[in-house]
Amino acid sequence: MRIPLVVGNWKMYTDREGAIKLAEGLKSEYSAKGIDSSQIKMGVCPPAPFIPLVKQVLEGHPLQVGGQNLYPGDEGAYTGEVSGKMLRSLGCHYVILGHSERRKYFGETDEGVNKKITAALSFHLTPIVCVGETLEEREAGKMKEVVTSQMTKSLEGFSGGLLSSLVIAYEPVWAIGTGVSASPEDAEEMHQHIRTLLSSLGDDDLAAKIPLLYGGSVKGSNALELSGKPNIDGALVGGASLKAGDFIEIAQKVVEAKKNQ
Ligand code: PGA
Repeated sequence: MRIPLVVGNWKMYTDREGAIKLAEGLKSEYSAKGIDSSQIKMGVCPPAPFIPLVKQVLEGHPLQVGGQNLYPGDEGAYTGEVSGKMLRSLGCHYVILGHSERRKYFGETDEGVNKKITAALSFHLTPIVCVGETLEEREAGKMKEVVTSQMTKSLEGFSGGLLSSLVIAYEPVWAIGTGVSASPEDAEEMHQHIRTLLSSLGDDDLAAKIPLLYGGSVKGSNALELSGKPNIDGALVGGASLKAGDFIEIAQKVVEAKKNQ
């Protein structure tokens, strides 16, 4: 029912040449590995300055492009910020919102994420809303409490059609960039919890439509097992999205896992 989705977050990596090379590599790996766009959706979120270059390389290709953040206003005197309107005008499809690095280093709050979701939706961008607990919170057994609070606050006021336009990414902070991913069982337990929360915000049918991605040290070697779980619909990938072969391998594994379900 849900088409799997794999999105790459390039963070503040690559340079002009590197971004072009990576996008070209993705194109050739995609066809070399026989990825079928009817079985999986894919996207990449390069650093903002490189979006037009990457978009140019991927013109007409099923791989979509997205932003890593936005400012919730159309335009104005906000030095250094990028609006949803700008991302849309560059042909972006997705935008990552509330990533834990933005929460940690740039003071992003759930209330701020809420405004950003509204802005993204008004420009027909699909928000990929990130939630997840820190290691301390998990060790204290508070992970569900934390994710519930992040979800309720950042999704406040959204219902029906708006809610169904979202993608949620569960990214335990302790798993991001550490090489240690959540176990498929722990990830599935949280995804189930998120799905239940979405049912209570909307209804079961609506919740069943929303793609839930897992993020945190996803690689070719664990993608099959993780996405083999019924509520894990794909992945948000950091490190492994910087190598075309590794990223496409993840997509292959996700397709394989979903075929076996
Ligand atoms: P990682 O990053 O795959 O390098 O752990 C994931 C993310 O930050 O979205």
